[in-house]
Amino acid sequence: MTKKFGAGLALGIIGTILVAIAIWLTLAYTGAYNVAASTQHADPVRWTFDTTMRRSVASRAGGVELPATVSEDVLAEGAGHYAESCAHCHGTPGGEPAEWSRGMRPEPPHLVEAATEWTPEEIYWIVENGIKMSGMPAFGGHHSSEEMVALTGFVSALPGLTADDYATLTGSADGSAEQTPSPATGEPDGEPQPETPVE
Ligand code: HEC
Repeated sequence: MTKKFGAGLALGIIGTILVAIAIWLTLAYTGAYNVAASTQHADPVRWTFDTTMRRSVASRAGGVELPATVSEDVLAEGAGHYAESCAHCHGTPGGEPAEWSRGMRPEPPHLVEAATEWTPEEIYWIVENGIKMSGMPAFGGHHSSEEMVALTGFVSALPGLTADDYATLTGSADGSAEQTPSPATGEPDGEPQPETPVE
C-alpha cells in the first residue's frame, strides 16, 4: 500500500516536471510570448519579475554598510551624479524623465515617489548591482563606493526634496536640465535658460 503510494507520488512528480519542461521549451521555441516593449507585460509575468526582484534585493542588501549621516556636500555630490546618470530614466523633483524611457518595460519608476519603498542599503545594492532583465544598469563597475554612497544618500532624500532644492543641489541649470522639463512650466527645456547658476 505505502509502496504503491510512493511509486504513484514519484510518477506524479516526474510527470509534473516533464509538463513544466514542455511548457518552458514551447514558450521559448514557438515565439508565443510577445517580447515587444510596446505592450505591457502580462500581469502574472510582471508580478513574477517584481516579486522576484524585491525579494532578491531584500535578501542581498543586508551586507551593505552605510555612514549614519550624510553631509550637505555629499548630498550635492550625489545630486550631481543623479542628474548625470539617473534623471533621464527616473525623473527629478518637479521634472519628468526623458520621453524615450517611457518605452521601457518595466518602465523605470519615478524615484521621487518610489524611493520611499526602499531602505538606503537596498538602494545602494541596486545602484551597485543593477537589475537583470529590466534595463536598470549596474554602476558598481565604474563608480567608486564613495560615489555610490553619495548617490544613495541623495536618492533616499529625494522624496522630501522640492524642485528648488534639486536646482540648488545640482547647481541649477547644468547639463541635466536638457533631459528634464522645467519645473516652473512643465514644458521641456528646449532652449537654454539665461539663469544665473546658484554657486
Ligand atoms: C536606462 C534607464 C535607467 C537608468 C539610467 C537608471 N535606472 Fe534605475 N531602474 C531602471 C528600471 C527599468 C528599473 C525598474 C526595475 C524593475 O522594476 O524591475 C529601475 C529601478 C531602480 C530602483 C528600484 C526602484 C523600484 O521601485 O523599482 C532604484 C532605487 C534605481 N533604479 C536607482 C537608480 C539610480 C540611483 C540610477 C543612477 C545611478 C539609476 N537607477 C539609473 C532603469 C534605469
